[in-house]
Amino acid sequence: MDILVTAGPTREHLDPVRFLSNRSTGKMGFAIAQAAAERGHAVTLVAGPVSLPTPPGVTRVDVVSARDLLAAVERLLPAHAALVMCAAVADWRPAAASARKLKKAEMRPVLALEPNPDILRTVRPLKGGRLFVGFAAETGDPLAEARRKLADKGLDLIVANDVSQPDAGFAVDTNRVTFLTAEEHAPVALPLQSKLDVGRALVAWLERRAAAAPHSASQASPETA
Ligand code: PMT
Repeated sequence: MDILVTAGPTREHLDPVRFLSNRSTGKMGFAIAQAAAERGHAVTLVAGPVSLPTPPGVTRVDVVSARDLLAAVERLLPAHAALVMCAAVADWRPAAASARKLKKAEMRPVLALEPNPDILRTVRPLKGGRLFVGFAAETGDPLAEARRKLADKGLDLIVANDVSQPDAGFAVDTNRVTFLTAEEHAPVALPLQSKLDVGRALVAWLERRAAAAPHSASQASPETA
């Protein structure tokens, strides 16, 4: 299967040295890419600014902002049968960005923002028979929010990620997640494990799903989108 994975944060620059971003390190998305490549899948990894080596056998495309990430996903998606959106995309960007470093005296204490595009919603018309997987990083009620995002973004699977615990979520090597699918199946809570093992579980889910519907995921093409 050709699998497109996104990972890491986006940076929304205010000027060449200042930006809005988040705590994502790319570890979870890179682990998914590694797990998929280990199983022999053709993997393209779209990475925000992170300092991780590219997993062996994976094709990597580097991006900076949410708009760069959207452009890369729109360009690459037609050649892939599955999209795994693990990137922590900044929802907002500064309304104005300067090409040169702003002087302190030129800056205001209140920053005007404008919304970034929602990537999953934007590429939904291209879904066709492709499998779409999202993540939901939550600190409140992870399952309720994940369920809402599963429906809202038209996903096949959402990985609810409770990021309130120190051993899960951002910047650590382990994760504790729950899989929720678009069907009525009960949520599947995975134990605390390495991000690589979470990636392996996710790839196994994609393989099972593609095998159950061989005329959708495995044959997703620009024509079927
Ligand atoms: O990178 P690590 O340090 O290993 O941390 C891993 C992680 C916590 C970042 C990862 O496991 C995770 O939960 N990633 C998703 C984080 C996130 O942005 O969640 P969200 O609930 O804000 O977004 C929901 C889904 O919509 C996600 O699939 C996201 O990629 C997507 N999205 C979000 C915003 C946006 N503008 N467009 C999107 O498509």
